[in-house]
Amino acid sequence: GAAVEVDISAMKPGEKLTVEWRGKPVWIVKRTPEQLAGLPKLDSQLADPKSERNPGDLTPEYARNEGRSIKPEIFVAVGICSHLGCSPIDKFQIGGQPSLPDDWAGGFLCPCHGSTFDIAGRVYKNKPAPDNLEVPPHMYLSDAKLLIG
Ligand code: FES
Repeated sequence: GAAVEVDISAMKPGEKLTVEWRGKPVWIVKRTPEQLAGLPKLDSQLADPKSERNPGDLTPEYARNEGRSIKPEIFVAVGICSHLGCSPIDKFQIGGQPSLPDDWAGGFLCPCHGSTFDIAGRVYKNKPAPDNLEVPPHMYLSDAKLLIG
């Protein structure tokens, strides 16, 4: 399918855009400095913190870093759970979610069977989803323009 060009210049920290690429939802999340600072602290709770599983399919080489991204603040992922393909919802903030652990730092929650992912799409341990969310091929055409695909 055709690559999709997205203007991200108006995105504010904490915002998420969803675009369609090859019939799949692709999320673009602009992370806050606090969210980025929290990522390394989560490693021990995650199934694959360094994105070492199926890197050829799930994490392009340029995204094999703590934030799984090219620019630290901009996270790009296919919004499809690696368990049975539901689309997780975003829960960027702690609180108000009775089914979530008190110490969950926020990220994405799959409504189908409860898999949770951090704000870099890394799956938590002991969840039905086996893998991190897929980071699709992408590149920046300029500071404002992201090309997915
Ligand atoms: Fe997401 Fe089952 S499809 S946890």
